Amino acid sequence: MKIALITGITGQDGSYLAEFLLKKDYEVWGITRRSSSFNTGRIDYLYKDPHEKSRLKLVYGDMTDGVNLSSILNDIKPDEVYNLAAQSHVRVSFDQPIYTANVDGIGTLRLLEAVRKMQKPAKFYQASSSEMYGKAVEMPQSEKTPFYPRSPYGCAKVYSFWQTVNYREAYKIFACNGILFNHESPRRGETFVTRKITRAATRIKLGLQEKLYLGNLDAKRDWGFAGDYVEAMWLMMQQDKPDDYVIATGQTHSVREFLDEVFGYLELDWEKYVEKDTRYYRPTEVDVLQGDASKAEKYLKWRPKVTFKQLARMMTDADMKLAKQEKILKEHGQ
Ligand code: NAP
Ligand code: GDD
Repeated sequence: MKIALITGITGQDGSYLAEFLLKKDYEVWGITRRSSSFNTGRIDYLYKDPHEKSRLKLVYGDMTDGVNLSSILNDIKPDEVYNLAAQSHVRVSFDQPIYTANVDGIGTLRLLEAVRKMQKPAKFYQASSSEMYGKAVEMPQSEKTPFYPRSPYGCAKVYSFWQTVNYREAYKIFACNGILFNHESPRRGETFVTRKITRAATRIKLGLQEKLYLGNLDAKRDWGFAGDYVEAMWLMMQQDKPDDYVIATGQTHSVREFLDEVFGYLELDWEKYVEKDTRYYRPTEVDVLQGDASKAEKYLKWRPKVTFKQLARMMTDADMKLAKQEKILKEHGQ
């Protein structure tokens, strides 16, 4: 049985990847952070299946603690390491640039060092990001497009990208960068724009909320479904040679278009509810991202399955269920 280790298992992608690898009969280990409240909400459902529960194991760790990462790797001896842990919010990275660099940049280096020093060779996946293209110098962006990061988060991810390439070349480690464009799901964190919109729109529909405050509505992103994207991570790790791949839908849409899609589906006019709030603007913005995933299509035989419209509706349907539960509790005075 293959053993996988996932950093960031409690996040959106970590939960989908854990589910995917368990279905492939892996033993899955995940690193979680100690928290004063429960932070395993996205993976708790995996414990309901007794077969999967016995192959899912959690261990405490942190990307800022290299000694602990090394001892985890030496204990578990994974075949594949997926580095998904990050302070992943671009706006927050402007408020916490040094912490973001420590976790998203040096944290990757700590993990690569731990992999290098393992007795048994392990494959390594780095969660690289389309944010590295930032002020994109060409459209669409491919593996050949130069990086121009526009945030402390983007800069830290560029650092990790090159460390991953360097460990591949210097130490012959099977190390891959997945350059993933934005991917969303009902498990997306509620402060990212898509989920913020589906949560608010469904609550507005049920009379639980009056307004939605947003920043730049003109930004355009290449939005795909997280469930599709974790398969691409795994496929990269099954190739004969390690390499870097763009994972994207090839379509780009504005925040405004996402509002149209979600509020339209709920038969609401978003212009009546949405207000601008400068708090959500960034000092430097990434105006438009659009990925060219033809390399992944050619070599990994990977293609996204869920469309923009299906994604918006899937997220809206899931959040409508939450809003209905919230309304019932409210009506019962809870
Ligand atoms: P996410 O939902 O924010 O999850 C981030 C995970 O990292 C969580 O499990 C979090 O733990 C963990 N984490 C944060 N700081 C940590 C630390 N110091 N030590 C250990 N763990 C830590 O992010 P995601 O959307 O799943 O994204 C997964 C990865 O892909 C990230 O590296 C992100 O930067 C990258 N990425 C994401 C996208 C996207 O569109 N989603 C696109 C490209 C790249 P807690 O649960 O305890 O907070
Ligand atoms: N979060 C947020 N909140 N974004 C807003 C808002 C708002 O109220 N209003 C407008 N936006 C705009 C942002 O300015 C940005 O241009 C766009 O919506 C998308 O913002 P996010 O959903 O926060 O995602 P992101 O593109 O900045 O970053 C995500 O994708 C990256 C891949 O390109 C994150 O998942 C990163 O971790 C990931 O690397």
